[in-house]
Amino acid sequence: MNDSLSTLNWLVEAGADEAVAEQPVNRLTAKAQVTPLQPAAAPRTAPARAPAALPVDSDAIGTAQAAAAAAQSLADLKTALEAFDGCALKRTATNTVFADGVAEGRIMLIGEAPGRDEDRVGKPFVGRAGQLLDKMLASIGLDRKENAYITNVINWRPPDNRDPTPEEAAACLPFLRRHIELAQPGVIILLGAVAARHVTGVSDGIMKLRGRWLEYRVGDTMVPLMPTLHPAYLLRQPAHKKLAWRDLQAVRDRMKTLDLPARVAPSGDAG
Ligand code: URA
Repeated sequence: MNDSLSTLNWLVEAGADEAVAEQPVNRLTAKAQVTPLQPAAAPRTAPARAPAALPVDSDAIGTAQAAAAAAQSLADLKTALEAFDGCALKRTATNTVFADGVAEGRIMLIGEAPGRDEDRVGKPFVGRAGQLLDKMLASIGLDRKENAYITNVINWRPPDNRDPTPEEAAACLPFLRRHIELAQPGVIILLGAVAARHVTGVSDGIMKLRGRWLEYRVGDTMVPLMPTLHPAYLLRQPAHKKLAWRDLQAVRDRMKTLDLPARVAPSGDAG
């Protein structure tokens, strides 16, 4: 099936199967819900509410913070992550899964953790969920080969695809925060409950969080952030594709208003 046909299929499955008006509707006339996630005293990119009392290995977190902070480009960060041994998941994984796509597009998607296919290939979202994600992106004019950049909260596959533990997530989060700083996204899309919880620090379920604009602070900039449903969940619950479709329409509308300036990529960025 060619790309446009599979994108059309995704749209139809998501419920967008008829034109409802002659003219496009400007959804931005409705007031966006913007929630600042960080108190003034928080570290520059930390979530406002830290995940509740983590049983953390503070050595591993300290090492992760120092290694991540020292990285001055995406390529540096990838190298630092590959050299980091503070997350137990690395021992059972085949590859470190860093990112895929084009950071210059300034649309950053954050998923949960690599699965079997991602572990084998060393890139995020290359299995069935990734194929659906590609269709979802295509439906709003995005493509990881051109203008979308994809990573995960967790950089190594949890055995049997179990949920990452709070300790495992805590060891990866300093890298994710630095990853966001270096990628300089103009919009962030969070895929599923795990990404939504760890990036925002808000523990409301994804059904409550999805579809509402939030903000993520990077330095002096507040980056609009949209939590939505994870493509793997949508494969299990296709009836909910229409909710993800609504969220993506909101992203597409917001992107039109942003006129994102080009990202200033440090030399030596990862490809
Ligand atoms: N699910 C995720 O959250 N990330 C991947 O990379 C693959 C599946």
